[in-house]
Parts: sequence; structure tokens; C-alpha cells
Amino acid sequence: MLLSCAVVTLAAPPDDTEARKSLIKFKESLTNDSALNDWNESISLCSGNDSNWNGLLCLNDVFYGLRLEGMGLKGMINMEVLSELPTLRSISVMNNDFEGPMPDIKKLGGIVGGSLRGLFLSNNRFSGEISDDAFVGMLSLRRVLLSHNEFIGKIPNSLAKLPKLADLLLDDNQFDGQLPDFASKDLRTVNLANNRFQGPIPPSLQDIYAGSFSGE
Ligand SMILES: *[C@@H]1O[C@H](CO)[C@@H](O)[C@H](O)[C@H]1NC(C)=O
Ligand SMILES: *[C@@H]1O[C@H](CO)[C@@H](O)[C@H](O)[C@H]1NC(C)=O
Ligand SMILES: *[C@@H]1O[C@H](CO)[C@@H](O)[C@H](O)[C@H]1NC(C)=O
Repeated sequence: MLLSCAVVTLAAPPDDTEARKSLIKFKESLTNDSALNDWNESISLCSGNDSNWNGLLCLNDVFYGLRLEGMGLKGMINMEVLSELPTLRSISVMNNDFEGPMPDIKKLGGIVGGSLRGLFLSNNRFSGEISDDAFVGMLSLRRVLLSHNEFIGKIPNSLAKLPKLADLLLDDNQFDGQLPDFASKDLRTVNLANNRFQGPIPPSLQDIYAGSFSGE
């Protein structure tokens, strides 16, 4: 009897009860969210690599990302609630109707912030400056896509200092000022077109495809 219990426990998928609660809470701050009508707290998030909730990414029964793209979503992106999801590695809300300031990714906190690999906010109407320390502590962040929004001001220092940055798309915003030198040795795609940058191209960007600076 005891033995068979143990076997069942070992074979069971990870307990995602807390993650379900957090995601339902996350949804509550969104509006026009009919694309997420199948989010249901009594259904597990993942079956193998397939998600049972629209817009989630799963690997081996574990939820690891939000891909909420092209869903007409608006409202608030509640980063505090996402900090309760230790397996979260990727956040995409591309091609929606979000507006207002850059979501406060510092609220992801140390564990989630330090493990996040992708942040995809392109094609919304986010606006205003991004605070200089917005990306502090995001030691695993490789892909940052902010294209086609209404951001202004300088590229945050903390973004330039990200150690693992590989892909950075900032095109079609109104960023200005001098381009910072980037710390990452892994940079492979950078698009800064259609902004208002001034001054020289820093050494860290000189080997990157020159066309990515066009349209300034
Ligand atoms: C959630 O799923 C359960 C089990 O499939 C179902 O009985 C229930 O009606 C669903 N709830 C909503 C709000 O859809
Ligand atoms: C899930 O994807 C991983 C990585 O691609 C693969 O190794 C694994 O076999 C897949 N699992 C299932 C149940 O398909
Ligand atoms: C709400 O989202 C749907 C897609 O789910 C979209 O077609 C529609 O335009 C959106 N409505 C508003 C008012 O934004």
C-alpha cells in the first residue's frame, strides 16, 4: 500500500496549484481578455510540452513562459504576481494594446528576475522613459524586444550592462541620447533604427550589421 502510494507520487506532474492561483490573479488586472477564457484554476497548466491554458509555454509538464501575443489585451501587467512563479523564464505580450509606462520588471524580484531569459513587449503603445535601473539583477536575460512602442529617453544603463544580452530590438521608438557601450560578449542582433540617437557608434556595436542603425 505504502509502496504504491510512493510510485504514484513519483509519477505525478509537479504540483502547480500555486502557479494556477497566481496566473488567475495575473489575468484579473488585464482587460479585453476573452482570449484567456479557457484559463481555469481546476485544470493543470501543462500536459507534457502542451499547455492546457491558452498562451502558456510548457516543457516536460512545467510551465515556463507566457506567450500572450496578438490577443487584443489591455490593462495592467502585474509583475508582482509574476514574481510568484519561480519557473517563469519568458514573458511575451507582443502585438497587443498595452499602454502607459514600461512594466516594472524589478518587481519580478531576485529569483524570477535573475532567471528570466526573454522579455518581449514589441508592438504595443508603452511610453515614457525607462528607469536607469530597470534591468538591474537580470543576469540571465538574453532577448529584449521593445520595438514599435513610444519609449523616450536614454537607453537605461542597466540594459547596457546585461551580461548575457544577445538580441536587442529597440527600433521604432523615440529613444535619444548617446548610445552606451554594451557589456555582453554575446550580442548578435541589435536594431536601433528609427529613434533619435546621436553621436558615435560604441565599440561593442561596431561589428554588428551596419544596417541596423539606418533610419536614424
Ligand atoms: C473549469 O473546469 C471544470 C472541469 O473541467 C469545469 O467543470 C468548470 O465548469 C470550468 N470552469 C469554468 C469557469 O469554465
Ligand atoms: C518536450 O520537449 C523536449 C525538448 O524539445 C523533448 O526532449 C521532450 O521529449 C518533449 N516531451 C514530450 C512529452 O514530447
Ligand atoms: C478585444 O480583443 C479582440 C481579440 O480577442 C480584438 O479583436 C478586439 O479588437 C479587442 N477589442 C478592443 C476594444 O480592444
